[in-house]
Amino acid sequence: MTETIGLDEIRTRALAELDEVADVDGVRAWERAFLGDKGALTGFLRSLGRLSADERPAAGRAANALKGELTAAFDARATALRGLLLEAQLAAEAVDITLPGRSPDVGTIHPISQMIEELSDIFALLGFQTVFGREIETGHYNFDLLNIPSDHPARDVWDTIIVDAPGEIVLRTHTSPMQARVMEASEPPIRVIVPGRAYRFEAQDASHEWMFHQLEGLAVDEHITMADLKGVLQELGRQLFGPDRRVRFRCDYFPFVEPGVDFAVDCAICNGKGCRTCKHTGWLEMGGAGMVHPNVLRGVGYDPERYTGFAFGLGIERLFMMKYGVDDIRAFAGNDLRFLRQFA
Ligand code: FA5
Repeated sequence: MTETIGLDEIRTRALAELDEVADVDGVRAWERAFLGDKGALTGFLRSLGRLSADERPAAGRAANALKGELTAAFDARATALRGLLLEAQLAAEAVDITLPGRSPDVGTIHPISQMIEELSDIFALLGFQTVFGREIETGHYNFDLLNIPSDHPARDVWDTIIVDAPGEIVLRTHTSPMQARVMEASEPPIRVIVPGRAYRFEAQDASHEWMFHQLEGLAVDEHITMADLKGVLQELGRQLFGPDRRVRFRCDYFPFVEPGVDFAVDCAICNGKGCRTCKHTGWLEMGGAGMVHPNVLRGVGYDPERYTGFAFGLGIERLFMMKYGVDDIRAFAGNDLRFLRQFA
């Protein structure tokens, strides 16, 4: 007869081993051992050929019945194991919802951006539109159209960072080139402010940066006078520093304005009497201004007999320092969060 083990023994061993199986790998190994191509039951079925024709049908039926029983047992065990596995996985990955959450690191708006927003709001009330210009400029816009010809000594006033010397491509030394660009691109009446970066090849100290921000202002129309300029800057001083502030104009020279002035606001801390903040002068310097030079108007094709205008430019870092008592300009680009978060 055959050495193949009997069906009863296969059944006993298979069911006992299936009980022992503890994981998915084990259940697969069990399937191979009993139901697979080389498994015990398949071995038994193959051996049927060696039985007599009388014995074969009964043995075949019994083997098929066992195959059905073992397959059902295998399915049940595999399902149970998958359930156990899932439970274990869920337990391992459980989230403790009672733990305190991690608060996200929320950034803050940079003080200079805040100042720009505040200035834009103030000037919007005065009818000025905010526009932005390019930081890489040509000498034509940065100097020539501002009445600063190549041989003019005023061209040395700013230590220019040059991008390309032969093409005279420069990092703009002020926001004033936008005066010409705005006038070229539009028609009077013009009322714009231009906040943005300016660059100068300058040694850094507590009040000087090589990269800083300016705010340019320009108004061009018929009948614009110095009184309009004074009114606008007076209102700026009041909006920024309080309703009692006064503005002082003194003669100054910029090639693109005539007459030119520097303007200051009386110190809000000491009410103009003199203190540390205003360096005992009673005044806080804000920037330069004046009536747009006829040559600048002519340069962009405007008739200076018909149109007049005023322009002004101020340093945004310096303004922020005055308003909030910051004593070193280098703090703005220093990225020290302790500084920046004070203005959150
Ligand atoms: C100008 O740049 C003129 N374009 C301003 C102007 C515009 C005059 C329109 C007339 C009409 P000035 O070089 O003074 O002027 O600079 C203006 C302001 O920029 C200064 O008052 C100061 O607040 C700021 N500023 C200038 N250089 C620096 C620097 N290195 N670091 C920080 N702020 C600076």
